[in-house]
Amino acid sequence: MRVYDIILKKRNGHELSDEEINFFINGIMDGSIPDYQASALLMAIYFKGLNKRETAQLTMAMVNSGDVLDLSGIAGIKVDKHSTGGVGDKISLIVIPLAAAAGVPVAKISGRGLGHTGGTVDKLEAISGFNTELSKETFFDNVNKYKMSIAGQTANLTPADKKLYALRDVTATVDSIPLIASSIMSKKIASGADCIVLDVKVGSGAFMKSIDEAVLLAETMVEIGKSLNKKTIAVVSDMSQPLGHEVGNANEVKEAIEVLRGDGAEDETEVALTIASYMTVLGGAFSEFNEAYGYLKGIIESGKALDKFKQLISIQSGNPEVADNPELLPQAKHHIEIKSSQEGFVYSIDAESIGVAAMLLGAGRRKKNDSIDHSAGITIKKKVGEKVNHDDTICILHTNLENWDEARVSAENAFKIMKTANKPLKYIHDI
Ligand code: URA
Repeated sequence: MRVYDIILKKRNGHELSDEEINFFINGIMDGSIPDYQASALLMAIYFKGLNKRETAQLTMAMVNSGDVLDLSGIAGIKVDKHSTGGVGDKISLIVIPLAAAAGVPVAKISGRGLGHTGGTVDKLEAISGFNTELSKETFFDNVNKYKMSIAGQTANLTPADKKLYALRDVTATVDSIPLIASSIMSKKIASGADCIVLDVKVGSGAFMKSIDEAVLLAETMVEIGKSLNKKTIAVVSDMSQPLGHEVGNANEVKEAIEVLRGDGAEDETEVALTIASYMTVLGGAFSEFNEAYGYLKGIIESGKALDKFKQLISIQSGNPEVADNPELLPQAKHHIEIKSSQEGFVYSIDAESIGVAAMLLGAGRRKKNDSIDHSAGITIKKKVGEKVNHDDTICILHTNLENWDEARVSAENAFKIMKTANKPLKYIHDI
């Protein structure tokens, strides 16, 4: 078999066989296929697509390129969730304790972030002492005893995806539905859970800019899950503005605490309750969504949800007092208020520009090995639809850096203010 012929076949719009897909992934792994040919095939896939069978095969070939976690040492139906990525997306911090409080085991493997803001591990590390470098025994013990644990990725999961993602990132081939679907699903399948809830983000801050595209990505991932006997549900949620009010690592922990305490932002609370409800339905704790939703809302009101978050912090060696005193989280030296120069209503907030501004303030990484500043971030004071007077603060930048000009411009330009209010945004577009 020659990779040249595989590239030609896909370039001409034909279906690849399972053997050809395996040959490609094996060649990526053993170095026999050079980056320029791998990139050419990725570009051909970008333009010609993959059908369901090819996408499922690519997923499995990537799963088989590394370790697959065996969670059978954990009792019960293990549920995982994954977001396609957005700005201010702290949903994992909220749904892990919620699902666990309903008795559904969540054994979560999470990564660090690259680009806009931190990943879930970075966010939790804003809590002093929080440790995600757990041995397999501690990880399993935590989930068996407390129904939850979160570990940074140490096992060699889906190395082929890492190589391909690095190439896609520099060849403008990230935003291809079959490539995103196989990349995400390969990681979820290798992480070993029985059921998966996917949070597919749509809008300016997401890979998918239109609802139709997001639904297609969601359907593609659900199909892959089904074909591999993993119960999978996808929620298509809004990312046309940052989620909630806080962006940045410590800021997002603070906001997750607010949601778990019952006084969180409306959009954040709605998306978190929806995702957590589907997790608990798939995990078998409830037979239907409304029952799950009502229960989870109730445990937020009773304080049980916040107690569960405190327990998560304690079992991972963090300081649980942050849940009652969020001011114990790292605080930045400078807080720069950005004021509106006009009067009107917030028409849109470009999530990507806010994400970039947060990164420039120190909250995210430009390169893989950059360190991040947990205290850096942005507080959005006015969300889409809100009335703004001249000189009202629309957002606050938090940073330890002495020069924030570039971040200020990016954050300021993110806000579009118009004379009249637009239609209220939907938080959940489809299931
Ligand atoms: N997230 C992933 O893990 N992979 C993609 O391709 C896109 C988003």
